[in-house]
Amino acid sequence: MEEHSIGFIGAGKMAEALIAGLIAKDVFSKDEIIACAPSESTRKHMSETYGIKMCQTAAEVTAETSMVVVAVKPKQVPAVFVDEGTVTKRGSIVLSVVAGLTVEKMKSYVPDSKVVRVMPNHCVTVLEGAMGYTTDGSLTPAEMTEVRSILEAVGLAVEVSEDQMDAITGLSGSSPAFLYMVIDAMADAGVLNGIPRKDAIRLAAQSMLGSAKMVLETGRHPDQLKDEVCSPAGTTIEGVRTAEDMGLRSAMIAAVDATIAKSRSMTK
Ligand SMILES: NC(=O)c1ccc[n+]([C@@H]2O[C@H](COP(=O)([O-])OP(=O)(O)OC[C@H]3O[C@@H](n4cnc5c(N)ncnc54)[C@H](OP(=O)(O)O)[C@@H]3O)[C@@H](O)[C@H]2O)c1
Repeated sequence: MEEHSIGFIGAGKMAEALIAGLIAKDVFSKDEIIACAPSESTRKHMSETYGIKMCQTAAEVTAETSMVVVAVKPKQVPAVFVDEGTVTKRGSIVLSVVAGLTVEKMKSYVPDSKVVRVMPNHCVTVLEGAMGYTTDGSLTPAEMTEVRSILEAVGLAVEVSEDQMDAITGLSGSSPAFLYMVIDAMADAGVLNGIPRKDAIRLAAQSMLGSAKMVLETGRHPDQLKDEVCSPAGTTIEGVRTAEDMGLRSAMIAAVDATIAKSRSMTK
């Protein structure tokens, strides 16, 4: 019997979002979660906010669970597994959210564990993350189901092959930045036309949220939905023509593609 069902190495922004989601969605209770962070202030914040057990070192986490989430910054990974010599229990599942760290590299730190690499985005904070994940192929179907239930507590999770992880980085990892720019630009146009800034931002953001839900919940192609809101000789098709003229579509393709290229160059 494990002392804790899941443990987190690192308790920063990403770990906190995951922990909040797991508790909110009843995947694990607070008593089933343990996490660690070197600083007293982080430990205090996490134990007071979520009521989970906090400790100082990664070794204390891996001693108490066989489901370990690695959520430290990439440069902190060698400190955890080499300098501090943290070892995981044989057969543990190690779920790494560390950007750019390959399954093979993670496996070199935890050779007796099963490795899952996840690329989340920061929308996990509001339980609406979009993430790709890949594994070392050693997990049983039951273990895969458990991993999916953990990831799906904080958003949409799609299994991909490892060579697609750089594409995931651009498509969903970094894309919130571009979408915030779109919301801000739309709000500017609203302000230009007399809508107060605060309302303009909320209306632009809600329009993006609603559009995303329409795509996900109706299953209809985005182009089909676009056609449905463009009446002949109407206002919307004027905007669509202008967006095309100004290169909205190619700007978005170029932004995501450039991110993917940068991610590939950093992974090499
Ligand atoms: N944030 C995102 O949107 C995002 C998106 C995709 C992927 N990721 C990945 O998620 C990982 C974590 O990112 P983050 O934004 O959550 O970073 P963060 O907020 O800086 O959190 C890092 C955590 O690691 C802890 N830590 C540092 N050294 C440690 C050690 N030796 N042993 C145990 N814990 C240690 C820190 O402790 P203290 O609090 O005591 O300093 C902190 O709680 C990164 O690898 C990043 O690539 C993040």
